[in-house]
Amino acid sequence: MKDFHYYTPTEVVFGKDSEKEIGHLVKKHGGGKVLIHYGGKSAETSGLLDTVRRQLDAVGIPFVELGGVVPNPVLSKVHEGVQISKNENVDFILAVGGGSVIDSAKAIAYGLAYDGDVWDFFSKKTEAFAAYPIGVILTIPAAGSEMSNGCVITNEEGYSKRAYDNDLCRPRFAVMNPIRTYTLSAYQTACGAVDMMMHTMERYFSHDDDMLLTDAIAESLMRTVCECAPKVIAAPNDYILRSQIMWAGSLAHNNLTGCGTIGDFATHMLEHELSAMFNVAHGAGLAAIWPHWAEYVLSENPTRFAQFAVNVLKIANNFRSAEETAREGIEAMKIFYKKIGMPTSIPELLGRKATDDEIREMADKCSLGRTSTIGHLKILSYDDMVEIYNMANR
Ligand code: NZQ
Ligand code: ZN
Repeated sequence: MKDFHYYTPTEVVFGKDSEKEIGHLVKKHGGGKVLIHYGGKSAETSGLLDTVRRQLDAVGIPFVELGGVVPNPVLSKVHEGVQISKNENVDFILAVGGGSVIDSAKAIAYGLAYDGDVWDFFSKKTEAFAAYPIGVILTIPAAGSEMSNGCVITNEEGYSKRAYDNDLCRPRFAVMNPIRTYTLSAYQTACGAVDMMMHTMERYFSHDDDMLLTDAIAESLMRTVCECAPKVIAAPNDYILRSQIMWAGSLAHNNLTGCGTIGDFATHMLEHELSAMFNVAHGAGLAAIWPHWAEYVLSENPTRFAQFAVNVLKIANNFRSAEETAREGIEAMKIFYKKIGMPTSIPELLGRKATDDEIREMADKCSLGRTSTIGHLKILSYDDMVEIYNMANR
């Protein structure tokens, strides 16, 4: 069991009536003037934005608005948000949406507290020492950004998608009403399920075998998502199922399932290049990569993969070979992905194979021009990345 810090300062307000508390929450967490930040149409058409406006009016908090955040959020929108917020003396950002809107809000919050270009943090030029406070009204359980210290932005110049992790950006509160997720398409629901499973799997597949409680929590979370995801796709208005998925998404990425171990996150790094280059949904990209990453690194710790197969996917342990049981688990995971409509390869994701040049470019960016490695269970260099992309491209 590795030593760890566990820090989750986000106040969670979960349930059918959670939105009634928005005004009060903004006030409690110091908001004097708010930027309401949102994506495309979903929050407007569902009436959620109107509810937010009414709630802020009711407590006398003035606000300005900035919509138009796209999935795989872009730097130019962050710059726009920083400028508007500076002009309007905004001191609190309220994100209404999913991971893309939340990450855009987090980047604006960094930008407001910094004189230079916010991209400096993502390009590792410097560290952030302050960020404005943000609150979240979550509409899609997936990225877990509502409780995470992560922020992922795409710079349109060169299409670099980069993550910056810092506790400063953790939201002050997250309002989660599962009813607001009824309108999600089957595809977005499935992408979210893949992502939250993956956040747990990234922490689970390690060299450590001695974090019994963390394993039990992680396995239970993954079993819950595996069980509920296909059911909720068939019954999108089921409150109980939507609730399980929504809560799982937050717990999967607030590091509860990472206590005592070191995360791998290679699949995430490989996927970020896919979604930067092809603008695909993050969850779908993860499903296209993970089985091939798993195949590639399996020999590093076959018993861990076998434990995953048995405890999460209910594969019978054949007790002859951990590797055989592990491989059955990887196949079962592919079956799960297919069952919920997710791709298990790059051609299934894109509708065509990636070219050799595209694969080399993704690996080059992922390895920061061949200067950097990714992963922990197995440290992956540029050549390993090319190999995994090639395996996923068959
Ligand atoms: O723009 P609108 O109209 O709102 O539509 C969105 C968007 O098209 C739609 N949607 C959201 N709530 C809805 C809804 N449609 C109907 N009903 C609702 N209630 O869903 C689409 C996808 O939204 P998005 O926010 O992009 O999804 P997600 O939450 O999966 O976020 C993905 C982004 O988060 C990053 C990903 O890389 C990607 O950029 N991640 C952020 C992390 C973090 N900050 O900790 C960790 C993750 O690993 C991930 O990398
Ligand atoms: Zn993710």
